[in-house]
Amino acid sequence: MKIALVGLGNWGLRLIPKLFAHPGVEKLYGYDIDESKNSHVSGEFPELTIVSDYDMILQNAEISAVVVATPAASHYMLARLALESQKHVLVEKPLTNSVADAEQLVELARHRELTLMVDHITVYGGAVRALKRIVDADELGELLYFDSVRANLGMLQSDVNVIWDLGIHEFAVLDYLIGELPVAVSGVGFSRYGKQEEIAYVTLYFNNDLVAHVHVSWVSPIKIRRLIAGGRKKMIVFDDARAKGKLEVFDSGIDVSAGKRTERPIISYRRTAPRVLEYDESEPLALMVDTFVASINARSAPLTSGESGLRMVRVLAAVEKSLKHKGSIVPLD
Ligand SMILES: NC(=O)c1ccc[n+]([C@@H]2O[C@H](COP(=O)([O-])OP(=O)(O)OC[C@H]3O[C@@H](n4cnc5c(N)ncnc54)[C@H](O)[C@@H]3O)[C@@H](O)[C@H]2O)c1
Repeated sequence: MKIALVGLGNWGLRLIPKLFAHPGVEKLYGYDIDESKNSHVSGEFPELTIVSDYDMILQNAEISAVVVATPAASHYMLARLALESQKHVLVEKPLTNSVADAEQLVELARHRELTLMVDHITVYGGAVRALKRIVDADELGELLYFDSVRANLGMLQSDVNVIWDLGIHEFAVLDYLIGELPVAVSGVGFSRYGKQEEIAYVTLYFNNDLVAHVHVSWVSPIKIRRLIAGGRKKMIVFDDARAKGKLEVFDSGIDVSAGKRTERPIISYRRTAPRVLEYDESEPLALMVDTFVASINARSAPLTSGESGLRMVRVLAAVEKSLKHKGSIVPLD
């Protein structure tokens, strides 16, 4: 398969070795609107075929797929032109910056029977996939809450806020684990250094009283990437900052039973030592690229399909609306 990568910035440079390493990728073309990037990247990856115009990719019938790794505002047009040129498309997160644009891309891909995929990279992480197996096996029991934090110092973005940059990773994990959209969201965010919110606290309300809280920040002195999932039977903690024992299951919980002699319920706490879970530590980016190539070859929907990209844009747009109204609860249709 011949693939073209559009956008040779920070993330594009990380995608290039993964695309080259894939046995199904026969040739890789690269294009960036900024010519200085083209010469820099071809020095680093001489086997990359640089083209000077996006039209050269669109009109090259040998190129069957396009990977879009440009800033979010350009995703829609670049992806649309590629789909209209009958090419499969992988778009970096977020799929687009508006719900209407995401809907159009999904419809276009469906109509043309092409693969449209979005890089929700966190879903391809081994710990998250292990967590999914535990949730699906009902090991945690009834799900009560999710609590996640993704924080670091930087990188401040000028075109999107911290919700669109980091929040999307957490929302995609919840989408994957829970398998349904929240019924409503609310969020507050703050900007202290520029126009875009750099810190945000978001609550997602799901059916059956399940609540998820997501805290994302570009203004943290330490790197935090932690997810706690609480179930009635068991609870689980994923702490990516640890050197080892990142994923732990606790048989901990709270049992409430009716008191025999009094009206007051008896509350007992189950506190147990954690059990460390091992998981597949393969590179998520390589797995994501593999999923894209495999879904094209098998003509099957990838895990992070255009539809999942659309779902995340819907959540992001609703959170954005809530941020503008100081945390008011915004229902999702
Ligand atoms: N999946 C992830 O974990 C992850 C991580 C980082 C970035 N990203 C995503 O990757 C994308 C790129 O981010 P980045 O950090 O590499 O940004 P960047 O600014 O470093 O690179 C973007 C590149 O795109 C080029 N570009 C802009 N408009 C273009 C156009 N119309 N045609 C061709 N090239 C164009 C720019 O010249 C630049 O070289 C963003 O959508 C971002 O959200 C995803």
